[in-house]
Amino acid sequence: KYERGYFTPPVKSTKWMEKEYIDAPPTWCSVDLRDGNQALIIPMSLEEKLEYFQLLVDVGFKEIEVGFPAASETEYAFLRALIEQNLIPDDVTIQVLTQSRDHIIEKTFEALRGAKKAVVHLYNSTSVAQREQVFRKTEEEIIKIAVSGAKLVQKYAEKTEGNFQFQYSPESFTGTEMEFALEICNRVLDVWQPSENNKVIINLPATVSMSMPHVYASQIEYMIDHLHYSDNVIVSLHPHNDRGTGVADAELGMLAGAKRVEGTLFGNGERTGNVDIVTLALNMYSHGIDPKLNFEKLPEIKKIYERLTRMQVSQRHPYGGELVFTAFSGSHQDAIAKGMNYKEEKPESKWSVPYLLIDPKDIGREYEGDIIRINSQSGKGGIGYILKQHYGLELPLEMRESFGYAVKDVSDKNHQELQPAQIHDIFTENYVNI
Ligand code: KIV
Ligand code: ZN
Repeated sequence: KYERGYFTPPVKSTKWMEKEYIDAPPTWCSVDLRDGNQALIIPMSLEEKLEYFQLLVDVGFKEIEVGFPAASETEYAFLRALIEQNLIPDDVTIQVLTQSRDHIIEKTFEALRGAKKAVVHLYNSTSVAQREQVFRKTEEEIIKIAVSGAKLVQKYAEKTEGNFQFQYSPESFTGTEMEFALEICNRVLDVWQPSENNKVIINLPATVSMSMPHVYASQIEYMIDHLHYSDNVIVSLHPHNDRGTGVADAELGMLAGAKRVEGTLFGNGERTGNVDIVTLALNMYSHGIDPKLNFEKLPEIKKIYERLTRMQVSQRHPYGGELVFTAFSGSHQDAIAKGMNYKEEKPESKWSVPYLLIDPKDIGREYEGDIIRINSQSGKGGIGYILKQHYGLELPLEMRESFGYAVKDVSDKNHQELQPAQIHDIFTENYVNI
């Protein structure tokens, strides 16, 4: 029952483990419109995809995988609309996915006509499970699929006007023996022969996340150390979240040397999703690194995301969830209120308010309503904070305790969160109308 899965043991490494954090943001590639979209109960319509594309551009993505144009009419029409209506900013590169099959590659390039530039993303499955169960092919036969696809992509790129960069993914990389993953990537690289002006992306997906993050990171390091043409290869991460470690996989993978990350907003994607770029980017921000993505209006981004994907962002979702900056409990509220006062007194000090990793205002979260909320767990500090913020009332020390109990009592009896107006009513009933 607990037999070990197919992942290979970590390649021994300590090189990256000594680093404290990532030095610089990676190149971000959004796969919302492809991996994210293909996992939705109702995939986005053409109009919805257009709106979502604009959202990604506004957030600051410079690489956006727009779909699998040979897979459906909507995907094809969407790509055509982007090109024909001139909707792709000059500093944004679109990316398209293709399987390694002749007619699919042909259709992909047909869909790309008129594009100024694009990344053409070729993939085939390489894992032991897929080779044995799905394709029933030998290693050499699987390599042949990748190599013939790479040649065809190159041939069509030469025939088609535009600037094309190539990307290869050994799909199900994490279920593949490292030696075989390396061999197949190198055979593809030998076809494409990357150079300074023609870099190739090797994307190493945790299609299914199967191991602890340090194992994935060691696999990434192994590939970086042994890939051909390594100076001209961009190693890219594509973690899924099956073990709930997508973010950790990406962070450790970057420490191991990867310079590019594919993921989605709020981690939408197949099964448990792709790695959540909002969390990854804001984790960097919390370490003092500019992630080069703009989440200053995160609540608005969340609203658009929820409307277009018909998915809900969990209330506990890092940074974006409704409750993630909220304190109900008395001691937390007290510490936050004191921390906020301290920050007001010393505005030049670094952000270090207890319990709040970053200043919620930096991502468009409001103090009122987002941070201190009152229920039966709350304390006099938080209750006093609400009265002061909303009504300018500062209670004398002797009153705070008894008023705190009065408010908690009402919340406890009614089993209800209390809004500022209700707290004010309790204040009036207890201390004004007597
Ligand atoms: O998860 C995956 O392996 C993919 C590939 C197509 C890159 O989405
Ligand atoms: Zn994927």
